[in-house]
Amino acid sequence: MDNADKVSEWAAKYVAMRIKHFNPGPDRYFVLGLPTGGTPLGMYEYLIQYYKAGDISFKYVKTFNMDEYVGLPRDHVESYHYYMMTNFFTHVDIDPNNAHILDGNAVDLQAECMNYERLIEEAGGVHLFIGGIGPDGHIAFNEPGSSLASKTRVKTLARETLEANARFFDNDIEKVPKRALTVGVGTVMSAETVMILITGSHKAFALHKAIEEGVNHMWTVSAFQQHPKTIILCDEDATLELK
Ligand code: F6R
Repeated sequence: MDNADKVSEWAAKYVAMRIKHFNPGPDRYFVLGLPTGGTPLGMYEYLIQYYKAGDISFKYVKTFNMDEYVGLPRDHVESYHYYMMTNFFTHVDIDPNNAHILDGNAVDLQAECMNYERLIEEAGGVHLFIGGIGPDGHIAFNEPGSSLASKTRVKTLARETLEANARFFDNDIEKVPKRALTVGVGTVMSAETVMILITGSHKAFALHKAIEEGVNHMWTVSAFQQHPKTIILCDEDATLELK
């Protein structure tokens, strides 16, 4: 795609098309996996537009977000709960009970992660998992070195991620939560279709590692080379390091 806006538009159109073709209803929910971060913001804006124009409904859609920080209050502006509510859920007709986000304040974090996997299974699995990646190739909070078979779990964040996220916490790395709950690479791999959005020259090396070198747990996004249906959606800037 020419630029990040085109990536957002294509992604939103693809989501809308998949939901419509599935023809969801009370006994048949479409199941979406969703990311946060800067990259998907444009896609959410387009989806809200399509909803307002009456082109699409989320009434029979269930969502599962990729990750959440540990220990941040739900209403903290940097929590992924807050992000999803303000940027998407409150603008469309999804039933809040069907919009799942890991609870980073659960008393038993491990039980929370196991329960999340169970909920995904009970929903019949994810039809379309949308993801973003970091410059180090992480997908969700599956940092370099994560098992490619991993499921939802508690993760300690890599120094690079803390540094990258410090801009959201007054540029103070000490304020960035050190742990997160995240779906595993294996969780995303189990989805029927995976769509990964990659924009910007700072992600160019990660895109090269993702698709032009071997599958490697130090670049967790490379696992999707072995997924039967992965769409990598990128802008021109992200392609700068491709051979
Ligand atoms: C989002 C997520 C991460 C981000 C990645 C890129 O839920 O888990 O993988 O997609 O860190 O973030 P942005 O889009 O802000 O560059």
